[in-house]
Amino acid sequence: MPVRSWFPTLIYSEPLQPSGLVRFNAELADECRRLREFDAAGRRWSAKNYLGGYTSYASMNELHRFSSTFSALEKKLLRHARAFARTLDLDLHGRTVRMSDCWVNIMPPMTAHSLHLHPLSFLSGTYYVSTPRGCPGLKFEDPRLSKFMAAPPKLASARPSHRTHVTYPAVAGHVILFESWLRHEVAANRIDEERISISFNFQWA
Ligand code: NI
Repeated sequence: MPVRSWFPTLIYSEPLQPSGLVRFNAELADECRRLREFDAAGRRWSAKNYLGGYTSYASMNELHRFSSTFSALEKKLLRHARAFARTLDLDLHGRTVRMSDCWVNIMPPMTAHSLHLHPLSFLSGTYYVSTPRGCPGLKFEDPRLSKFMAAPPKLASARPSHRTHVTYPAVAGHVILFESWLRHEVAANRIDEERISISFNFQWA
């Protein structure tokens, strides 16, 4: 083929660690639910901005600094983020990858998270704590979608990497990392159990 592929959009997905995830996730889930009880400001913010659900995005978004469980998670995630940064061929100029924000998302039935990106960072991601069977995954949009103009739609049989969207299933114990400019969303949770995830941003400093 005379055609080559350029300008790839990379998405990283790996288990957090080889074993011990069930216990670690049970600890995290407990702490996420306790945080919801405790964080009245976050509940108020969520009532306006995250209908039916709870997120500490606007109230307690540096959890890695205040909780030993989240600080343990930060250390584990940093290993993945640094590996991802190496894969992206980024020249960090002697600086390092550092977690800047870390917050909890609890999605009860019918809560959704509309299309967004993560400002003020270069890598972002999600760690899945509790993912009951049938809960929604993480849907990414082709970053060039707004530039397609008069292009015809893709064939139903298009190769997965050529489609305009890709959805990664939410799997408890898995980390997903992406560059912060990549828009993504979570469809409404249509099952009768809570989906719990932890989201985070990284800067280089
Ligand atoms: Ni996000």
